[in-house]
Amino acid sequence: MKKVDIIVPLTVVRYSELSETERKLVDAARSVTANSYAPYSHFRVGAAILLSNGEIIYGSNQENAAYPSGLCAERTAAFYAHSRYPDATFEVIAVAAIDTDGSEIKAPIAPCGACRQSLLEYETLAGKPVKVILVGSDEIFIIPSVRSLLPVAFTEFS
Ligand code: THU
Repeated sequence: MKKVDIIVPLTVVRYSELSETERKLVDAARSVTANSYAPYSHFRVGAAILLSNGEIIYGSNQENAAYPSGLCAERTAAFYAHSRYPDATFEVIAVAAIDTDGSEIKAPIAPCGACRQSLLEYETLAGKPVKVILVGSDEIFIIPSVRSLLPVAFTEFS
C-alpha cells in the first residue's frame, strides 16, 4: 500500500504585493462583476483571463430562470477566450466576487468543480501552469496552477 498526501500550494497576499500584471487582472475581474447577471443568487462573480497574446478576456456569471442553464464567470470567460482566440493559451485567471449585500467578499471564493475541470482543459492545452488568483477584499490567494486545484483529475492528454 502507498499513501499519497496532496498539498495545495496557496500563497496569501495583499493587493499591494501583486505585480503590475497581476493587479491589472485583479482590477479587470473586480470591474466585470458589474456585468454579472445574477437576479436569482444576487452573487456577482467576475473572471478575467490573461492570454499569451496579451489580451485580457472578461466574463461574469450569467444566471437563468432554469437554474442549471446558467454559467459561472470562469467558464463564461474561458469559453469566450478560446472561441475568440483559439491559438492563444491561457496564462493567468483572476476571480472576484460581490456578495449579496453589495460589498466585495472578504475571503476569496474558489471555482466550482465544473469550472476547475473546464479550466484544466485549457491548462493542458497551454502545456504549462495557468496561475489562479482568487480575490477577496481582505486577502488574495495565489495558486500556481489549475491542476493544483484539481489534483486527481481526468484529462485526455496527460
Ligand atoms: N459562481 C461563479 O460564477 N463562480 C464561482 O466560482 C462560484 C459561483 C456563480 C454561480 C451562480 O451564478 C452564483 O455564483 C451563485 O452560486
